[in-house]
Amino acid sequence: MKMIYQQLLAFFLVIGCTILLLGFSFSRMSKTFVYDQTWHNLEKYSDSLIQQSLTISSKNKAKVTFDEEKLKNSEALLENQAVHFTVFSPQDQVIYPNNGVAPRITQKDWEHLRRNQIVRKVNNKNFKLSNGKTRPAMIEVLKPYYYKKKLVAAVTVGAFISDVNSNVKRINRDLLKALFVALLISMFISYFIARRLNRRISKLRSAANQVSNGNYKIRLKPGGKDEIGELIVDFNHMTQSLQQANNEIQRQEERRQEFLANAAHEMRTPLTTISGILEGIKYDVIPQESRAKSIDLMSSETQRLIRLVNENLDYEKIRSNSIQLDKRHFNAAKVLENVIDQLDSKAEESQDKLVLNAPKDLSIYADYDRFVQIVFNIVTNAIQFTDQGTITVTGERGYNETIIKVADTGIGMSEDQQKNIFERYYKADASRRTGKYGESGLGLAIVHQLVKSHGGKISVSSKLGEGTTFTVIIPDATAAEKEQENH
Ligand SMILES: Nc1ncnc2c1ncn2[C@@H]1O[C@H](COP(=O)(O)OP(=O)(O)OP(=O)(O)O)[C@@H](O)[C@H]1O
Ligand SMILES: [Mg+2]
Repeated sequence: MKMIYQQLLAFFLVIGCTILLLGFSFSRMSKTFVYDQTWHNLEKYSDSLIQQSLTISSKNKAKVTFDEEKLKNSEALLENQAVHFTVFSPQDQVIYPNNGVAPRITQKDWEHLRRNQIVRKVNNKNFKLSNGKTRPAMIEVLKPYYYKKKLVAAVTVGAFISDVNSNVKRINRDLLKALFVALLISMFISYFIARRLNRRISKLRSAANQVSNGNYKIRLKPGGKDEIGELIVDFNHMTQSLQQANNEIQRQEERRQEFLANAAHEMRTPLTTISGILEGIKYDVIPQESRAKSIDLMSSETQRLIRLVNENLDYEKIRSNSIQLDKRHFNAAKVLENVIDQLDSKAEESQDKLVLNAPKDLSIYADYDRFVQIVFNIVTNAIQFTDQGTITVTGERGYNETIIKVADTGIGMSEDQQKNIFERYYKADASRRTGKYGESGLGLAIVHQLVKSHGGKISVSSKLGEGTTFTVIIPDATAAEKEQENH
């Protein structure tokens, strides 16, 4: 069954039951109310009847009589209102009206009357009188009257039950109308609530469908502070993360394809050179005087191939954590100084100025050779991508860590380029495939893995045309490592 129908059914059941219960209790209440009111009125009639007609003998104060004329008048008056009465003497004799159609008071009722109790009765059935006539069903009050603590009369006053019930029916009819209107209004309102809920769920459903078809850009307008509103917020979060994950997957896929193409290219270039020279030797087309040069070229290309293979292997080893780091405490300032000395001539070629900015003693806990490799790579890059600029190498202590910064005033990188530089074979400028420094795009990938395996962090901040700063943070030895070093 469609959800809207389920909701409507649930609403109707709740509303229907409530209205049924309300209707039932109201109709009972109205019946009780009308009966109570009738009994109350009948008592009042009875009281005024006795007040008007009762006379006390002036001689014998204990004797009580009833003025028949006045009773007659009252009877005529009450008849108009469909009310009938009978006055009884304490000896169960009818004082008025003496027409033989009066009902008798039962023995049980007399007992109540003698105890000065008012009897309220409902005779639901018509009953036959002794003279053969039929008295319709009545609602009655039997009331005793005392004078000087002596029972002087009992009066029964009654109204036709059909008259009273017609009042009840009228009230019930009005009530039914009101309840029906309430039912209609609540049905209307519940239909709109159910429709609104349903629309929101349908929107979510179609959005979920779109997501399953690969559209991760979809976002729903948030609204409502109920569970569906929360679901919409969660849904938007979900699509956002899916979109991010999907972008990352696409980026990785592009990088993978690029990696394969670049790896093939890096290998093919030296192999083509070597193969060309070998062909030349085979067919003896290389002039004698160029042979030595060709063999030199072949050797350097072979070295390049070996370097590529070694670096790849190195990268894989570091990445899979299968290299053993020989971590020790040493003075990083010395390493920075050495690297700068080594690269000074290279910097001069590009007319770069190398500046060291570090305290004399800068403690670090790292694998010495690997740390040299890290700094060497980053500073080499800085020289490579800076012409006539300044490269500042800074070393400082942080909180339980050593921070190395290499800042250059070179070509810089865009944000997109910065995202990929730690990937293998990535070169921001693809046209610079081979150069005087043999760029293969492996340097930073290895540096990144090395810093990671030291438990450290590497970050880059750069602006195109302004320069780049690499920051490497190497944490101090943990308590366990310190203990191990002491042993
Ligand atoms: N200081 C820098 N300024 C501008 N771009 C840089 C800088 N350092 C790195 N890059 C960019 O990041 C890319 C990757 O650097 P990485 O060191 O991994 O490779 P490479 O220097 O090209 O080759 P390799 O280091 O393997 O010889 C570089 O090609 C360059 O585009
Ligand atoms: Mg490099």
